[in-house]
Amino acid sequence: MPEACILGIETSCDETAAAVVRSGEKLLSNVVSSQIATHQPYGGVVPELASREHLRAIVPVVRQALAEAGQTYESVDALAVTQGPGLAGALLVGISYAKALAFALEKPLITVNHLEGHIHAVLLEERQKGAFQLDFPVLALVVSGGHTHLFLAEERECGWVYENIGRTRDDAAGEAYDKVAKLLGLGYPGGPVIDVLAKKGNPRAVKFGPAQIKHLNRGTPRDKQTPYDFSFSGIKTAVLRYVDLEDMRETIAARRNALSTLSRPRPEDVLPLCDRKTLDLIASFQRAVVHDLVSRTLQAAVERGARTLFVTGGVAANSELRETFDKEAGQAGLPVYFPSRRLSTDNAAMIAAAAYPKFLTGNFAEAEFSAEAALPLK
Ligand code: KG4
Ligand code: ZN
Repeated sequence: MPEACILGIETSCDETAAAVVRSGEKLLSNVVSSQIATHQPYGGVVPELASREHLRAIVPVVRQALAEAGQTYESVDALAVTQGPGLAGALLVGISYAKALAFALEKPLITVNHLEGHIHAVLLEERQKGAFQLDFPVLALVVSGGHTHLFLAEERECGWVYENIGRTRDDAAGEAYDKVAKLLGLGYPGGPVIDVLAKKGNPRAVKFGPAQIKHLNRGTPRDKQTPYDFSFSGIKTAVLRYVDLEDMRETIAARRNALSTLSRPRPEDVLPLCDRKTLDLIASFQRAVVHDLVSRTLQAAVERGARTLFVTGGVAANSELRETFDKEAGQAGLPVYFPSRRLSTDNAAMIAAAAYPKFLTGNFAEAEFSAEAALPLK
């Protein structure tokens, strides 16, 4: 198979990222410029600020990725860019830049679906480790701030094909982490801090009903129904109700106040500001979300005959999710793979890796393509 050094560019949300990957299996550089400090005061991503920050960062981030890889604009074989899904304005920054660069350098440009990128982050790292034998079909859970999707994936001669067999009906799992963290005054983003604090609480202290859809598929046309959908808005409301019932508002306000003086609070800063009741609530919230993600994914895997599991996206960095998947998939006799934590959250190495099979089949972008905020993966 011909080798190819691909420069990947990713600007779909709040990370400006560029990376160089050789032939989908060798990571040569991976640069991520995070905007967390910009969005932190708002407790979530502000789309206009995200576009502005991407504009500021894109040129130096690409330069650094090339330099760290020992490559130049001229030496790479192709460029790859995220076309969607994501924030339209944010995507457009990466797309305009990649188009201009590809045109000036006369190099092929490849468009990549962000969710396909998350799936290929797993492949990149497993291939990098050495001989990697994959049994198909693969069931991939892509679980992040914007998505909670289940895809059955196969590799065909024409490239990778995907069937979406489940998705969230409302909030993504990472969104639930971020909203609960905001509600409890824990800072932004919520996932990493809840991951650490949950270890200090009792996960059985607060009983949450299964975080599932009560009236499954009500109003959905029969041909679009799927038994593997998720729902996380109910648990967010349940946390809110618990906070009111247990009179936790005052301690939350005090914590929020104390953290507002820090530009980027770490979990170590937050822990001393949490009482037992808060830690128990956090641990119970996480246990309910993890249980729901793992049980529904394993049910889908068994019923749809998956031979391998991938768990990827920002929430795949979660320690309890990893441990529970390892244990329960192991019991079900299914091999389960995660990206390293660095490649779980948004990055451009995954975009460059996903582009390689398209490079091999000559699947290059038309000149006229644009950002697609809700681009489906097929
Ligand atoms: O994949 P990603 O970087 O961006 C999207 O495509 O959305 O995912 C970001 C999400 C955020 O919601 C963040 O709170 C969550 O991933 N996250 C985590 C952890 N690290 C990041 N959630 C749970 N545990 C973590 N350790
Ligand atoms: Zn993502």
